[in-house]
Amino acid sequence: MIISPRSDFAGEFAIPGDKSITHRAVMFNAMAEGEALVTNALLGEDCLSTASCMRALGAEVSVQDGAIRVKGAPLHDAECFCGNSGTTMRLLMGLIAGQRLNASLTGDASLSKRPMERVAKPLRLLGADIETTDGTAPVYVRSAKLSGREVDTATASAQVKSALLLAALGADGETFVHESVKTRDHTERMLAAMGADIRVIGNTVRVKKSALRAADVEVPGDISSAAYFMALGALLGETLCKNVGVNPTRTGILSVFDQMGVIYSLENERTVCGEPVADIRVKKSALKPIVLSKEIMPSLIDELPVIAVLCAYAEGESVITGAEELRIKESDRIKTTAEMLANFGGDVMAREDGFVIRGRKTLAGGSADSYLDHRIAMSAAVALAASEKGGEIKNAECVNISFPGFYGMLG
Ligand code: S3P
Repeated sequence: MIISPRSDFAGEFAIPGDKSITHRAVMFNAMAEGEALVTNALLGEDCLSTASCMRALGAEVSVQDGAIRVKGAPLHDAECFCGNSGTTMRLLMGLIAGQRLNASLTGDASLSKRPMERVAKPLRLLGADIETTDGTAPVYVRSAKLSGREVDTATASAQVKSALLLAALGADGETFVHESVKTRDHTERMLAAMGADIRVIGNTVRVKKSALRAADVEVPGDISSAAYFMALGALLGETLCKNVGVNPTRTGILSVFDQMGVIYSLENERTVCGEPVADIRVKKSALKPIVLSKEIMPSLIDELPVIAVLCAYAEGESVITGAEELRIKESDRIKTTAEMLANFGGDVMAREDGFVIRGRKTLAGGSADSYLDHRIAMSAAVALAASEKGGEIKNAECVNISFPGFYGMLG
């Protein structure tokens, strides 16, 4: 994919549906009583992997006119292929254990390298019988009786927390899940709306055994996808991203904008299906360097590659620490982000848990490989659009994982 340099960038953008919320809407309705319509669903490859797994498990899931119709069913044993999607595999481990089913979970080459013991281990504390393959996929879940108890999530991960909450729906008694840092809470909000006996007390979630009732979900736009167009506004002109989810557990990028001195506003703030939503306007700004550390990471983890691009265009040295989770995403994002920025002429030093980036207002441009990581491809596109010469992205088509139509919207 060739990206030309742009002297300005302006426009209104309809951002595709939130990936995390689409996964959950399809999964939870598939195990619920009744039928539901998930509108503005993200039809990217990851969410389609969830749809096909839920079909394999026995639910009726169909895509109609951009929406996903889900008819819940008593689920049965299955072989589930999760594609590239960590959320699908990790949440399903908990869901399948909670429903006392037998299933095997496999994924593509990238997903097969990602750690699954972080989910298996705490699920075993509830009584789950789960076998990983040297800590990774294939994962085998075998039917076992679960009992509620108190569990701490060792890593600040919404996927680990959500797997535990889903398992807890089928466990006897009460389960308490404690997190040290609060992660995205879409699971808690949606389970409550579907009738689960769930309560959030600070960083603890308490769940009692519950059945779910189907609920229609109107999915807000994904702030992790909007981030690329927000960054283009900050670098090149003015963008308005419409209908974006602004759940406070996801808006770390707005705190980054505050630190960087980015001019932005939230307009038309409202609540849709229990999730806060707004239109986000961002204007071209002189960017200041930033310092980020561990606590903020869960609220912006997927945006870090594009935040690193903004740092490369800021005046001064930015330091990002506590981001070691980046090493185990779809690619080693510390390595792939640093390589991409260096190829474009950026001054970036990769550290074990983050980056030091010396911003210099302009980048020359050049060629970079996405390493089949959707967020690296889209961050490279932003960096090249703002660069002097533009350049090329290799393995660019992987954007379909989370943002089909991305290059078309870029124009
Ligand atoms: C997600 C949680 C995050 C995030 C991922 C989606 C979710 O992963 O990076 O893209 O939907 O729960 P972790 O739970 O590994 O932090």
